[in-house]
Order: sequence, then structure tokens, then C-alpha cells
Amino acid sequence: SKGNHRHFMIKEIYEQPIVVAQTLRSYLRRIDETLTLPIPDFDLSGIKRVTIVACGTSFYAGMIAKYWFEQFAHVPVDLDVASEFRYRAPVIEPDGLALFISQSGETADTLAALRHAREEGQKIAVVVNVPTSSMAREADLVLPTHAGPEIGVASTKAFTCQLAVLAALAANLARAKGRMTQEDEQSVVRHLAEAPAALNAALAYEESIQTVAAEIAAARDVLYLGRGTDYPLALEGALKLKEISYIHAEGYAAGEMKHGPIALIDDKVPVIVIAPSGPLFEKTVSNMQEVQARGGKVVLISDYDGIEAAGAGCMATITMPKAHPLIAPLVYSVPIQLLAYHVAVTKGTDVDQPRNLAKSVTVE
Ligand code: F6R
Repeated sequence: SKGNHRHFMIKEIYEQPIVVAQTLRSYLRRIDETLTLPIPDFDLSGIKRVTIVACGTSFYAGMIAKYWFEQFAHVPVDLDVASEFRYRAPVIEPDGLALFISQSGETADTLAALRHAREEGQKIAVVVNVPTSSMAREADLVLPTHAGPEIGVASTKAFTCQLAVLAALAANLARAKGRMTQEDEQSVVRHLAEAPAALNAALAYEESIQTVAAEIAAARDVLYLGRGTDYPLALEGALKLKEISYIHAEGYAAGEMKHGPIALIDDKVPVIVIAPSGPLFEKTVSNMQEVQARGGKVVLISDYDGIEAAGAGCMATITMPKAHPLIAPLVYSVPIQLLAYHVAVTKGTDVDQPRNLAKSVTVE
């Protein structure tokens, strides 16, 4: 049931601190601050390459994971949407881990891609929310998310739980490959363990996001910009908005603006900029200023320091709690979900059952 909530989507957004904590319990041992996996003796040390395949929101979780696998484990990563992967001629080398991410565990294209990778001799890992699903049955390594049933068609809590699992997996792989000191491991465990509280803190900003949503609801087109792991989040933000509010939205890597999309900018196209303070902040802000110089109306989502440094001249700002870069993608998921939700509610669309969409896509 929806409890006191008006829609399943908002209920599921609010469940995130609890379900992320539940999920992390299978991947972190708080007592001795070590990482673990549901199959603790699964040997990752020989993995030379990771191939990530998924669809939709689950694909964007995989795209964020690519940054983590490269950064922590220093392992090359191939990444593709399942409907492309299965029909191209991917060069699959031995000693690879093929990683499939799916809330339902039944998405037809992802399942077909999994079977293809198995025929090619890859080890198969799946991040799934339904432990009895086809993908879970066919995998060598099942990495469950414990998000509970997700009813809203737009994926929210499954996504942040996927991110939690993927961060832990990337760190596990780094450890298995000898790229992590005990201190590094402890620090990863500590930062991941902060995620539930940080998600709670992010949820406290719902009202300010609601105010911004009222302004976005009138737009015909919206752009989302981000760099690094905030680039996939920009894509996810745009997907959330278009699927439930039917406003045309696109996500871009902030640095790609000047290669075309900046031509779209005028005072009628709101631009949502996702830019926590950190090493990429200045770069993203300079892209944001290019937008502002052309009359673009910017909504900056950042932390207190970021808003202080660059918030002047924005149409609106959304302040997030300060978050370690490892959990920032989880924390910044909250404002993009809440923004899409409140825009849709303002427009009066069917939030939980958007037109033309099904929760589980079991046909290709
Ligand atoms: C978007 C959304 C979809 C799914 C996609 C994959 O909000 O929910 O894009 O993420 O259909 O579904 P799963 O994860 O079940 O394979």
C-alpha cells in the first residue's frame, strides 16, 4: 500500500535510506570495517575486463559504475545498452566479468545479452532486485539489491540500491586485484555506511525542490548537465522527467554543450546543472556560465560551498548535504527524482503509471 503517500513513487523515494542500508548490510562488515560479497569466496582476482550491460535507469547505474571500476580497480570497462550489445559483434575476451544490472531480472534484451555472454565463456554477475528472477537463476554471482518491491514504473529506490551494490563491487574488485590498502578499504566502508544518513538529509530538501518544480512544469524542453559520475545522473534526471511529466528533456556531459546543444539555449529552456563541489566543480561551472551568458535559466544543484561559490545568477539553487564523492551519486539522485516527481504532480500526469510504459519489459 501507499501508506500516507499520494503515489508509490514518492513512497519509494522516501524508502531509500532504509533500503540502501538494508542492501549495504550484505556488502559491508561494520564490525571490522571490511568489504564482503554475498558469495564471499567468489574469486575476482583474475578479472581483466568488465562488460556492463543493462537498459534504461539500470544502464545509467552501470554507467556510473564504469567510473568506479576504472578509478578503483583500474580495470577496463565496456558498457552498452542490452538492445545494442546483443546485435553488434562485441569482442569478448577471456577472463572477463560480464555484469548485468536489472531491477526486475526479466528484461528481455538484458537476459538475451546475458545468455550471449555466457556462450562466450564470461563469468556472469547480476545485480537484481528480484532474487527469483531469470537473471538471478542464470548467474554465477548474484548481487542482490534489497530495495523491496518497486511498484512505481519510474525506477527510484532500485537505482540507488544498484549504485550501493556497484560501489561495493568495484571496491571488492580493487581489493581482489591488490589495489587497495586496508586503510583504503576502511575508508570505503565508512563512506558507504554514511549513505543512508546522507539520503535522509537530502530528502529534507523536498520543499525547496517543490518550489523549483513549479517553475519547471511550464517548460517545453529541459536540459540536464553534469560531469564525471554526474553525467550519467544528468541522463537519469532527463529520463525521469520525460517519462513521468512528458516534458522533453535531455542529459548532456557538461563539456559537450559547446559542441551543439548550446544552440538550444534561450530563456525558455531551463538547464539543471548537477555539480557538487570537488575537483570537477570549476569545469562544470564554466560550462554553466556559458549557458548563462546566452540567457539560459540555470537551476544549480550543489552543496553549500558550491552554491556559495556559483549560485548567484541562477534561476534557482538546490542545496544538498556535503557528500563524499563515492556516495554523491546516491545523494544527488534524490533531488532529480523529487524534481521529476513534483513537476509531474504539478502537471497532473499519472505518476505511477505513465502512458505507454510497462514496469517490466519482457519483449524486445
Ligand atoms: C526508468 C525505468 C526503466 C528501467 C528499464 C530496465 O525509470 O524504470 O528505464 O530501468 O526498463 O528495467 P530493469 O532494471 O528491470 O531491467
